[in-house]
Amino acid sequence: MKVLVVGGGGREHAIIKSLKKSPRVTEIFAAPGNGGIAADAVCTGIGAKDLPAIADFAKKEGIDFAVVAPDDPLVLGCVDLLEGEGIPCFGPNKAAAILEGSKVFSKDLMKKYKIPTAHYETFDDMQAALHYLETAPIPTVVKADGLALGKGVTIAETREQAVEAVRACMEDKVFGDSGSHIVIEEFLTGPEVSVLSFTDGKTVVPMISSMDHKRVGDGDTGPNTGGMGTVAPNPYYTEEMAQRCMKEIFLPTVEAMNAEGRPFKGCLYFGLMLTADGPKVIEYNCRFGDPETQVVLPLLESDLLTVMEATAKGILAETEVKFSHQHACCVVLASEGYPKQYETGFPITIPADLEAEVYVAGAKLDGEVLKTAGGRVLGVTALGESLQEAIDRAYAQAGKVTFANAYCRKDIGQRALQAGGTVK
Ligand code: AMP
Ligand code: GLY
Repeated sequence: MKVLVVGGGGREHAIIKSLKKSPRVTEIFAAPGNGGIAADAVCTGIGAKDLPAIADFAKKEGIDFAVVAPDDPLVLGCVDLLEGEGIPCFGPNKAAAILEGSKVFSKDLMKKYKIPTAHYETFDDMQAALHYLETAPIPTVVKADGLALGKGVTIAETREQAVEAVRACMEDKVFGDSGSHIVIEEFLTGPEVSVLSFTDGKTVVPMISSMDHKRVGDGDTGPNTGGMGTVAPNPYYTEEMAQRCMKEIFLPTVEAMNAEGRPFKGCLYFGLMLTADGPKVIEYNCRFGDPETQVVLPLLESDLLTVMEATAKGILAETEVKFSHQHACCVVLASEGYPKQYETGFPITIPADLEAEVYVAGAKLDGEVLKTAGGRVLGVTALGESLQEAIDRAYAQAGKVTFANAYCRKDIGQRALQAGGTVK
């Protein structure tokens, strides 16, 4: 089968490497792909948001199955377009992708269907939002409605910061139209867990839980990033918690989307906070997480293509989805200075005998030479029988991958270890 993967980051590289293991996959194309992905797929260079060009390519190339990985093309309706051309797809259609595309939609859905989440108010009028902030409990959280490149969330420690965030969204329009609607919500505390799941709109099959490390610096300091590393499974997410989340959050969400006439098929990502009052939804994503995918898919023992096809066909209940009992750790190597200013264009050396998977995010080929081309350059994932072993291996192997100005966090997985991650 010829498979097309839309996207070009570390997540897509992990999806492609996993699909490559399927004996039924004959050729993989990426849109756009990147310099590292080029070792595992044909990179078309077609932008992930260039929907007409993607559909055109898929038709001409005779693509048998497409995987739309990033949020933007999903929210824009890439799956609708490809399915309209008769190409089966993994991913939600536009009507369902709104679950991530609009925070106002997702908050209202959770309220209507009593799915646990932070208390909130929505505003499309700035004066009303500012008035509300005069008496709102502090800290508070201000969120732009739309995608906002993952930067639309402000945790305001003071009333002044909250006012500033509201003005930035609604007056200065720093997130464009994304910020003309906002959500102001209760600040929650507790361990965070990412649970990616396969769902065909009837059955929900959660994947192994994981833990992201969003801040750039050790000890969770400094600005937010796209993710500096991950571990799986997440030790805070016990079997008992998993059962509770299935009953209180996962199935009710899928049923709520059906009741709204927006059945969700694809990867539904639950960003959860385990609060003293129980698990609550921080955010939904309509896609695989990055860099969660880089630790979750290496633990998948079943054939990814088969599971994705079953998801698209609505026969997930009859399909085995098996994960290994091992642990995984992904250490992201970034360009020094990320997420602010950084230099690129440095050659990357990856030893041929590396005992880990490398998932390339921001790199391009200059002739035969792979060079840095982004903030997050690549992720190094290793497995182990314990979390400690996975962490030690990931760091040992990441240390052998070199490029100028490389930076990584030194404490990926340490919080998980403290939570009991050594206990298998
Ligand atoms: P997002 O950009 O939506 O992934 O949110 C970024 C981060 O903000 C999340 O991973 C949480 O750590 C934090 N966050 C979002 N909403 C809340 C909330 N209501 N209370 C506390 N932290 C939050
Ligand atoms: N790692 C968080 C996300 O993919 O949104």
